[in-house]
Amino acid sequence: MALIRLMRGGEDEPQILQVNTAFSTDRVYKVKRTGLSYSLELVQINPTLRKDYGQITDLDEYPFVVVAEEHSVICGVAAVHIEAWNKRAVLQHLYVSEGYRSLGIGKLLVQSSMNYAKSSHMRCLWLETQNINYPAIQFYQRMGFEWCGLDTELYDDTTLNNYEIALFFARRIE
Ligand SMILES: CC(C)(COP(=O)(O)OP(=O)(O)OC[C@H]1O[C@@H](n2cnc3c(N)ncnc32)[C@H](O)[C@@H]1OP(=O)(O)O)[C@@H](O)C(=O)NCCC(=O)NCCS
Repeated sequence: MALIRLMRGGEDEPQILQVNTAFSTDRVYKVKRTGLSYSLELVQINPTLRKDYGQITDLDEYPFVVVAEEHSVICGVAAVHIEAWNKRAVLQHLYVSEGYRSLGIGKLLVQSSMNYAKSSHMRCLWLETQNINYPAIQFYQRMGFEWCGLDTELYDDTTLNNYEIALFFARRIE
């Protein structure tokens, strides 16, 4: 079982830079607009799509960062910040390295982030993902997050290879 612990500043940084943030998928959610309504339609794609979120380099900006450690190897990370004005905790980063996925590590990182949000007296844990990240959307739904909105104009579509739309999910804190 992976150990979930708080990040140790500069000491963990070299290993965190090695955490693999890429995913592959053979299906995506197509965002359909009908009048004032939006819906998500699951579609198969060929060839499969691969996206890499790149190295995580901004963790010193977050009040809460946890890492997952397996046999002294950092294989996952989660970072949360607090929006005090609306009592919302934001799960800004969540990554488990390829090779360590589907072992329950993402779940432990989310549970730890939820505990932090609860102890900070937040209403919910909120996050942004993309319509193309089918695997993460399955994971978040499994973790009790519900789709709470989208933004069709958040990303600069002149610089992205694929047509990506921001989707937002939230899990209420009891
Ligand atoms: C999304 C991610 C963090 C999930 O972490 P993980 O360690 O693989 O997930 P877990 O093993 O903890 O899975 C927890 C539950 O979600 C389910 N789940 C995870 N991935 C799934 C998938 N692709 N499809 C369906 N269910 C999935 C598991 O079956 C498990 O269910 P259970 O509790 O009933 O056993 C990981 O796949 C990842 O880092 N992906 C690449 C980076 C990324 O996309 N990050 C999110 C950016 S918004």
